[in-house]
Amino acid sequence: MSKSEAKSEEIQQHTFTLRDNATGESYDLPVLDGTEEPSVIDVRNLYQKTGLFLYDPGFTSTASCSSAITYIDGEKGILRHRGYAIEDLAENSDYLDVCYLLLHGELPSPEEKVEFDHHITHHTMLHEQLMYFYRGFRRDAHPMAIMVGVVGALSSFYHDSTDITDPQQRMVASHRLIAKMPTIGAYAYKYSKGLPFIYPSNDLSFSENLLKMVFSVPADNYDVNPVLAKAMDRILILHADHEQNASTSTVRLAGSSAANPFACIAAGIGSLWGPAHGGANEAVLRMLSEIGSKDRIPEFVKRAKDPKDDYRLMGFGHRVYKNYDPRAKVMRKSCHEVLNELGIDDPRLELAMELERIALEDDYFVERKLYPNVDFYSGIILKAMGFPTNMFTAIFAIARTVGWIAHWKEMMSEGPPQIGRPRQLYVGDQERKFATIDVREHKQSRGWSWLWGNSKE
Ligand code: ACO
Repeated sequence: MSKSEAKSEEIQQHTFTLRDNATGESYDLPVLDGTEEPSVIDVRNLYQKTGLFLYDPGFTSTASCSSAITYIDGEKGILRHRGYAIEDLAENSDYLDVCYLLLHGELPSPEEKVEFDHHITHHTMLHEQLMYFYRGFRRDAHPMAIMVGVVGALSSFYHDSTDITDPQQRMVASHRLIAKMPTIGAYAYKYSKGLPFIYPSNDLSFSENLLKMVFSVPADNYDVNPVLAKAMDRILILHADHEQNASTSTVRLAGSSAANPFACIAAGIGSLWGPAHGGANEAVLRMLSEIGSKDRIPEFVKRAKDPKDDYRLMGFGHRVYKNYDPRAKVMRKSCHEVLNELGIDDPRLELAMELERIALEDDYFVERKLYPNVDFYSGIILKAMGFPTNMFTAIFAIARTVGWIAHWKEMMSEGPPQIGRPRQLYVGDQERKFATIDVREHKQSRGWSWLWGNSKE
């Protein structure tokens, strides 16, 4: 019996019987209970017993691991980190408090907090040699493209934190990643503008530092607006972790081969970039600009509902939440605070609230339980703060780094990871006899299609 099987035997409460109607055979599978619902059917021995695989391409019914970091109840709209409600953390904590909680499992004591803040603050600078990497990118490169590259490059700098079997080295790698991501993201922005890089300041908080590195220039004084720093911190908290989402699962899968942690996080950044995941906040703003005015909302809602049209309302719907995303509620409140502070009357906020109202009264969205997600309002706040649209996902990546690395650390702390290696339902050709070139059939000339391509496959 393997160690993981022995561990699951302890928490097994009952069994689930699976019956194969073709053979009449029945199989008892253990059901494992966590500390919260839902329980899982342990199918690790299913193939060995039945010769069958499970088929679940989007992981809609599959738990890929056990984890003690984050709990989501999508039906009730609950999100908790280490047992603490996200609303409480967003209201009463700061981002580094939440980072400590995710990494260590407990909120820090006052002494631990001072020590942790010190560690993170003193790892924010980048190796000067790393600056040369930026110059290799085009000036119009997307910040996420730059971040994938630069974070991947970190793996070549820190040989003292690459022994992944050493818990201390894993912790140092975690601190480095959390601390350096704002600097890396801010420099990606500065590079795209042709502006000088601004070094981090040790007398500023994490969020203040991020704002300063993005928005200040050496020629001018820059005072961080405390309302904006608070809002920034809240945005970071709301994005810090979200259990086994696409990018976190990517990090775990990359890490399961015992790969370098910086390379694993680079893989996570790549996964986050897509518009179905972290790229949605950019897409929301584009959508609101495209809609333009309230009278055009019905036209876009109609498109989103049309089964023949691929168009979707960005910032709506979630794989797990079938209720209002609790993060979106906090974000909406924060959005009003920031716009009030800055005296900005952004018509996109009015448009977003009207779109939300119309969609939430529409049968299509009600039946499918499609509610605004965290990205629906975050773009409007970030825009009001002055971030260009293409930095939105970069901010998300900065915030999510702690979640990624906490999951990686959790996996590594369980002993040598079992490599993640899904199987497949094969639907290709069965065995065929190889045909040598002289006996293969001649195809008709493709004319110029070799140059212009052929739209049909
Ligand atoms: N607009 C219109 N219809 C939608 C939307 C939407 N935003 N989202 C889902 N639907 C519909 C689907 O067309 C489908 O309808 P059907 O049952 O008639 O076929 C049904 O709702 C279920 O949708 P799925 O795509 O099966 O749901 P899934 O869980 O796979 O997708 C996802 C979740 C990717 C987030 C989806 O809702 C979406 O594309 N939303 C827009 C992009 C977005 O905001 N992404 C951010 C997610 S949050 C985050 O990553 C931080």
